[in-house]
Amino acid sequence: MLSQQNLAKTLALELMGRLYLKTDRKSFNNLRDMNEKLKEIESAAHQELEKVSTANDWSQLKAKFMGKQGPISELMKGLKDVDPAERPQVGARINEVKVRLEGHFAQRFETIKKAELEIKLKSDRLDMTLPGQHRLKGSQHPLRRVYDEIVGIFSKLGFSVRRGPIIEKDNYNFEALNIPKDHPARDMQDTFYIDDSHVLRTQTSPIQIRAMETEGVPLRVLGPGTVFRCDSDISHSPMFHQLEGLWVDKKVSMADLKGLLDYFNRHFFGPNVKTRFRPSFFPFTEPSAEVDCSCPLCEEKGCRMCSGTGWIEMAGCGLVHPNVLSAAKVDPNEYQGLAFGMGIERLTIVKYGVQDIRLFFDNDVRFLEQFP
Ligand code: DAH
Repeated sequence: MLSQQNLAKTLALELMGRLYLKTDRKSFNNLRDMNEKLKEIESAAHQELEKVSTANDWSQLKAKFMGKQGPISELMKGLKDVDPAERPQVGARINEVKVRLEGHFAQRFETIKKAELEIKLKSDRLDMTLPGQHRLKGSQHPLRRVYDEIVGIFSKLGFSVRRGPIIEKDNYNFEALNIPKDHPARDMQDTFYIDDSHVLRTQTSPIQIRAMETEGVPLRVLGPGTVFRCDSDISHSPMFHQLEGLWVDKKVSMADLKGLLDYFNRHFFGPNVKTRFRPSFFPFTEPSAEVDCSCPLCEEKGCRMCSGTGWIEMAGCGLVHPNVLSAAKVDPNEYQGLAFGMGIERLTIVKYGVQDIRLFFDNDVRFLEQFP
């Protein structure tokens, strides 16, 4: 098969040959042949141009017909051999076709470009003028951060974490903690009952009993977890988190308890924070105390967080009641225990100045991202 270039050349040479050979014939013959040939070239160019759909194919086709080796150029080159009398007419005719073909090529190029752009716009959705996609950076939930921090501080003192079930036996949640059925202390904790003998645990204190029962003593444990009470307002959530602490050994005292919680307060809130105990009552400890820390936000000057008193309640604590040790099969004559329980939400509220406990559970990113 002839290559496209050779084909163009052959067409042109054939035409030139005829023009030569026919110099003795009447000039309109030459012109007629020439017209025929030009028509052929033009219609071939048209047909092929219709099939072309990419800019690349278009340039190749243009080179084939309109390039230096193409049939039009070849005809132009042959003009010098044409009878001088006919030359202007022949030249004008070739030129006319050339200009027309150039117009067709240009038109087709526009169409191809348009189609290509349309395809690109459809497939290519990247709009550089749009603002970039903002990737939200995750962060730990503030309660989780505070929980980790608390555990970190106590673990330096030899405490380690134990867990207990959320649906707890009434016995562990109350009775073993020296809160018998119908004891008025049950009213302090608005309980969700599952059935007669199971509750959603109202406190993490049952973890104390489970730990002593399964591991024996001496021991130093932390019992963190979710607890539930039927209560909801700006400072109470029906679900919240507590962290229990228990240290049982042959000789532990209120002095150890105060030293421990003072150490915690200074490490958690800051080195200048002071600790004080106020006498209190919990059925599972004797003696019992509420633990206050000096307000870390106003440094005892009095502010909204501490209701102007300069002090903030941060935990309950006491020495483990002998009945509780007995219930967990620990001899109260041989062992003593200290215990404390703190609310993780409460500590987070005080540390970060949060106004409403419900913010912790709304999962509003605007709130959560303030704890990067
Ligand atoms: N369980 C108590 C409550 O939910 C908190 C508490 C107070 C825990 C004193 C203790 C403790 O271990 O000794 O209010």
